[in-house]
Amino acid sequence: MQRKQSLKPGEKVLFAVFGAFLVLALVGLVVMEVVRAHMSEPMFAARSSFDLGVAGQRGSKLFREAGCTACHRAMRNGTNHGISLDGIGSRRSREWLEDFLKNPEAVYETATVDHGAAPKEAARISALPPATLHDIAVFLSELKAEQGSAMSRVPPKEAANSGFVQGMANFWAPEPWKAGAAERRQKSAHADAAIQQGAQRE
Ligand code: HEC
Repeated sequence: MQRKQSLKPGEKVLFAVFGAFLVLALVGLVVMEVVRAHMSEPMFAARSSFDLGVAGQRGSKLFREAGCTACHRAMRNGTNHGISLDGIGSRRSREWLEDFLKNPEAVYETATVDHGAAPKEAARISALPPATLHDIAVFLSELKAEQGSAMSRVPPKEAANSGFVQGMANFWAPEPWKAGAAERRQKSAHADAAIQQGAQRE
């Protein structure tokens, strides 16, 4: 009969450390879930939203049928492989989106990876019927982002009045950037307002 081998001291330490981490992780998870259950607001606030009109709803369906979700994410559907399109309606106008889908290489201000002429992987998309691309563009333009979130054109409201943010910018930003900063911010805010106003429901 074989005798059971006892653990070596090093193994004991290793198991103890691993066990301690496991216990800590479990306790942490339980505490977080308990805290979350008692919070009045969500722990991770959603910073994008959508309110779809009739064409937008058609577009949402077409978006999935056209296989956009293989590379994109929108309204919690799809993958994280490519660019998330949640909130894109606060960054791009409906016209821009429609032009991009039809003519990606001409509209994009830099080289494209997947959208564009064959043999690029998403080449088939610009050949979809114009009405389909229109509805998809309407859908995307109705995916909105909160000001200051990653998809928004304008920084958070607080940033403009924050001494800390201004101080950091004054200290770190290169001179040429500072020169046009106020002007650029105003331009972004105008573009943002134009996109918000231009969003007519269809
Ligand atoms: C094979 C992967 C792939 C598929 C499929 C795909 N996309 Fe894209 N999409 C990309 C990539 C990559 C980019 C970045 C531009 C580029 O390099 O092509 C992009 C960019 C975009 C942009 C521009 C985002 C921005 O603000 O710059 C939009 C809008 C978009 N896709 C919509 C769609 C829609 C709608 C569909 C379905 C009809 C779709 N995509 C299908 C990979 C894909």
